Amino acid sequence: MCGIMGYIGKGNAVPVIIDGLSKLEYRGYDSSGIALYNNNQIETVKKKGRLSTMVEKLEEKAGIDIGIGHTRWATHGVPSDVNAHPHADCTGQIVVVHNGIIENYAKLRKDLMLEGHDFISDTDTEAIVHLIEKYYKNTSLEKAVRKVLKEVQGSFAIAVMCVNEPDKIIAAKKDSPLIVGLGENENYIASDIPAILGKTKQIYILEDKELVILTKDSVEITDFDGNKVHKEIFEVTWDAIAAEKAGYEHFMLKEIHEQPVAIKETLREKIKDGLVDMSDLNIDEIFEDTEKIYIVACGTAYHAGLVGKLAIEKLAKIPVETDIASEFRYRDVLWTPKSVMIVVSQSGETADTLAALREAKRNGIKVLAVTNVVGSSVSREADKVIYTHAGPEIAVASTKAYTTQLVIMYLLALHLANVKSTISKEEITKLNNDLLKMDTLVEKVLTQQNKIKALAEKYKDIQSTFFLGRSFDYAVAMEGALKLKEISYIHAEAYAAGELKHGPLALIYDGVPVLALITQDHLVDKTMSNIKEVKARGAVVVAICKENLQETCQECDEQILLPDLNPILAPIVSVVPLQIFSYYMAVFRDCDVDKPRNLAKSVTVE
Ligand code: F6R
Repeated sequence: MCGIMGYIGKGNAVPVIIDGLSKLEYRGYDSSGIALYNNNQIETVKKKGRLSTMVEKLEEKAGIDIGIGHTRWATHGVPSDVNAHPHADCTGQIVVVHNGIIENYAKLRKDLMLEGHDFISDTDTEAIVHLIEKYYKNTSLEKAVRKVLKEVQGSFAIAVMCVNEPDKIIAAKKDSPLIVGLGENENYIASDIPAILGKTKQIYILEDKELVILTKDSVEITDFDGNKVHKEIFEVTWDAIAAEKAGYEHFMLKEIHEQPVAIKETLREKIKDGLVDMSDLNIDEIFEDTEKIYIVACGTAYHAGLVGKLAIEKLAKIPVETDIASEFRYRDVLWTPKSVMIVVSQSGETADTLAALREAKRNGIKVLAVTNVVGSSVSREADKVIYTHAGPEIAVASTKAYTTQLVIMYLLALHLANVKSTISKEEITKLNNDLLKMDTLVEKVLTQQNKIKALAEKYKDIQSTFFLGRSFDYAVAMEGALKLKEISYIHAEAYAAGELKHGPLALIYDGVPVLALITQDHLVDKTMSNIKEVKARGAVVVAICKENLQETCQECDEQILLPDLNPILAPIVSVVPLQIFSYYMAVFRDCDVDKPRNLAKSVTVE
């Protein structure tokens, strides 16, 4: 939540910061702002609304060599000009941008107000800058910031600039991400890699409780106590083009179409001689004698975890509990010895997922992270990491990260099944071969885009919809409903098909669309009975069904056919029509597809 971008260098601060913020808008986009050092003072422009609204207000400024910017996702205080960052102290000489939540801000604010500081916003952030002001007396900015870091509680990544020391940006982090981009006679500070792509590929990833002082030609990293920290430079492999729209109208559509390549990339090097080979990942040591697996994640990643549970239990015969991270971290988990936690997170920065990971580690449980971002917090804190190679995912609604997470879930299930000999070699080989075909099958579904688009046009004005399925299909139904809700704002609910008659059937009315997933051969008759129940009450049923089940599904009003595929692996393919459907529903309803209201891509607060 919230994106930070800072620049110090040769004099092109404004376009660099604006470009960086535009790449960080996925982290929040309800207001934005920039502070620049110009003519011996700090000029700040901030505006409610999208970045473009702020940029319109920004007069052309050349030759500015230092500045910090921010794109906000509101936590404390409504989206407004005044609550937008940067925030300034009483004198306007110190400015701060912040990502995170200062938990003790109310007390700090009260004390500072009693001491005479004027607060003008409702944010928690403003307490930081007034506290710096308080300590910035007969001392350096660095020393004042260090004192503040000892007093603030909660999560933060901050960047600070000051009129009296215009040759530096000071930044620090705890529990919110921050990276340093290294240029030649110019340096950057940012919340995430896409902000600096195209500017430099060399970065430092800051760890918790580290502070960095950036000047034009130096970067000095210390811990909060002032001890020097030596860091390896991290070479970014993503290129700037991968984070552009490449002719697509929206990132989401581009990312849907990137799935075949992302799946192939994720599989590459994990299959040798036709079999899953995870030996290079050295994960066996944490799975030795595993008696239970906890999969913990949020949102779409949680839905990938639900598929993971079904696959691991079916193939590797290890009991799995899949939990929502925000629930898991506060429940009294009865930790089973010899258990392993798998955290799934595209960004690797989700606060609740990270907290669950830490809880497991505190209890002596080994953690495997499945993430898309190299160097992310979960990748650094987990015992082992498997990367999804989806490339940068910019649209808030996750698509290619989900399908690649599924691929990893299957690879893991197959690997564990192989190690434990829980299924026959023939079955493993067959599933391996089928997994290798997934990219081609997804490509086939993508060719049906226009048909699905027409369907979306037909249903674009609906108020409510339901997604049904059993087993793997139910897990995908949950993801389909989430996609539709988050980008088209249509009420959507997913139900296990057999559960309807226990209550939700009362919600079915004449003409309500029901999307039914039908890929599990052994369950098709059961699901069809449930479909008949909703049809009898007036629902219009759209079936997403495997070609070979077409006959059985004839009674459905519409059919989207999936190529013949292994039912165990079906989620990788069956989710794709649902992604396309949601995308076009949002387009036809004039919604902001890539930046849905109230949301942000990376949820780094609780
Ligand atoms: C929905 C979506 C979210 C994320 C969730 C977890 O399309 O993207 O539900 O899946 O916020 O994010 P990560 O995977 O970054 O931990």
